[in-house]
Amino acid sequence: MVQLHDQTLRDAHQSVLATRLRTEDMLPICDKMDQVGFDSMEIWGGATFDACIRYLDEDPWERLNKLSDALPNTRVQMLERAMNIVAYKNYPDDVVKKFVHYAYKNGCESFRIFDALNDLRNMKVPIEKAKEEGAHVQGSLCYTISPIHTVEKYVEKFKKLEKMGCDSLCVKDMAGMISPSRAYDIIKGCKDAGIKIPIDLHSHKTSGMTGMAYMKACEAGVDVLDTSFSSLTGATGQPETEGVTAALKDTEYDTGYDMDLLMDIKEYFDEIWEKYRHLHRDQALKVDPSVTVHQIPGGMLSNLVNQLEKQGAADKYNEVLEEVPRVREDFGYPPLVTPSSQIVGVQAVMNVKFGRYEKITNDTKEYFRGMYGRPPGEISDEMYEKILGPDWEEEVIDERPASLLEPQFKKNKDLLEDKGLLNKPEDVLTYTIYPDIGLKFLKGEVEAEFYSEDLPLEKPGEKKEEQKTARQISYPWKGKVRIDGKNYEVVMKSEDKVRVNGKDYNVSVLFPEGEQPAPSQAKSKAQDRGEKRSGEELEINSPMLGTILELKVSPGDDVKAGQPVAILEAMKMENDVTAPRDGKIKDIHVKKGQDVEEDDLIATMVG
Ligand code: CO
Repeated sequence: MVQLHDQTLRDAHQSVLATRLRTEDMLPICDKMDQVGFDSMEIWGGATFDACIRYLDEDPWERLNKLSDALPNTRVQMLERAMNIVAYKNYPDDVVKKFVHYAYKNGCESFRIFDALNDLRNMKVPIEKAKEEGAHVQGSLCYTISPIHTVEKYVEKFKKLEKMGCDSLCVKDMAGMISPSRAYDIIKGCKDAGIKIPIDLHSHKTSGMTGMAYMKACEAGVDVLDTSFSSLTGATGQPETEGVTAALKDTEYDTGYDMDLLMDIKEYFDEIWEKYRHLHRDQALKVDPSVTVHQIPGGMLSNLVNQLEKQGAADKYNEVLEEVPRVREDFGYPPLVTPSSQIVGVQAVMNVKFGRYEKITNDTKEYFRGMYGRPPGEISDEMYEKILGPDWEEEVIDERPASLLEPQFKKNKDLLEDKGLLNKPEDVLTYTIYPDIGLKFLKGEVEAEFYSEDLPLEKPGEKKEEQKTARQISYPWKGKVRIDGKNYEVVMKSEDKVRVNGKDYNVSVLFPEGEQPAPSQAKSKAQDRGEKRSGEELEINSPMLGTILELKVSPGDDVKAGQPVAILEAMKMENDVTAPRDGKIKDIHVKKGQDVEEDDLIATMVG
């Protein structure tokens, strides 16, 4: 008998709905899902934590609490990124331990723990802590294809994970590129090597061969398969819960689940899929076997599409897909999973947009320093020098990265208390893991992109009738405006969102009506990006859409060419905005935390 681990409430919507499924759309179906008898359900972790606070104005801890209460008979699981927890960089041991403690306390009974680089040193602390709490611990290895990722290496590492105390194991094929024979070889290899604990196969349908891989996994003795309900899996999500159940019926692998019950649940999610139509993306809905070449995981693919659209560079999609494997080779073949998928993905976007390694993100530098763990393969000295400069050898560390970090929990707890923002200990973790957006969230300043009752919203690129919303607001406003003698059809969707000729723009009001306009900050599409002359002044503009994380200079400061002026967070990564030449900063035009668009003025300098 094979059991299923249902991923609908975590990975499915992370893969095809940009992780935006709201808790209020999950709760009504929990009772039925709880009756199926799944081995377990993943409902938390991964990107859901970030999405909750950033886009949905939802407390992720409350989500965990509510869902685990609504699923009393099912073991609920979170996806835990080892020392990265639910984010993109290493946190100190005390923070990781507190996180595991409070996740368990709020109802998380099982932890699927993985490290993006399969560096077991990074997995030790969360595994031991989750065991100590009494949770089920699933040790997970990221599946990838490269000259150095052999079946023997996987089996060897899985054996080590069993020794480390894991209760089960998972082959985490986040990009959906495991072939039937590789699935068979790895799982059979584990069983033949005497591994006793259950083995789970997690995959995505992206390549079109995953159903076959699941069958071969069954033949090799797999214990659990990851699936999601058909309505929400698109092509980049998991194989279908109903389909796999039907496929295994009346075989020795029969799950024994009630198909009628599964169909009831499917119907519910069909409606949810329609409700979230504004997030549908064609690319995420097509099976694309080229994944076996570019190896980009489902979640990363839909995020890349999303980000490229926002950056106005959707036409670069194919170039970026081709650049990703080249970057990956340069990086020593990391599996593409959060955060390495973001690091490699953003660097690939940069390479395509600005030329290869012309702009290097801070995260790429950290990766080369070893601050994420040991890269799986060799990296050439030449690459090290290109990324870290001639003294790179002094910068690269050899120890477990988190061992270099100072404890943080107590300090941040005091800090939140001082600010009067500490309502529960979990808030300290929200803040520690996401200092900027977490603080905004705790202050109640995050605006939800939408609530369940606002749905459905308009689908991008689709002309639709004026929307009626339940709320008594004057938006959306539809009408004509006349600019330079030309008429434009305009829909003001909200105070800061406007649709002109079917295209969406973010707008900001520069001066209130009736007042003198501020000195012109009119933007022309930059021909010479980042370096525009206006008289003696030189403008430093944002290279892309993002959020100002930090300002590194003040008016009057002398700067050298290439010196960071601001740190811009874009595509979840930090990027330096640098001075184009030597000179003196004249004015700063943005504030910390401000959202900026491509070509927005950040600072002026005299150079
Ligand atoms: Co996945």
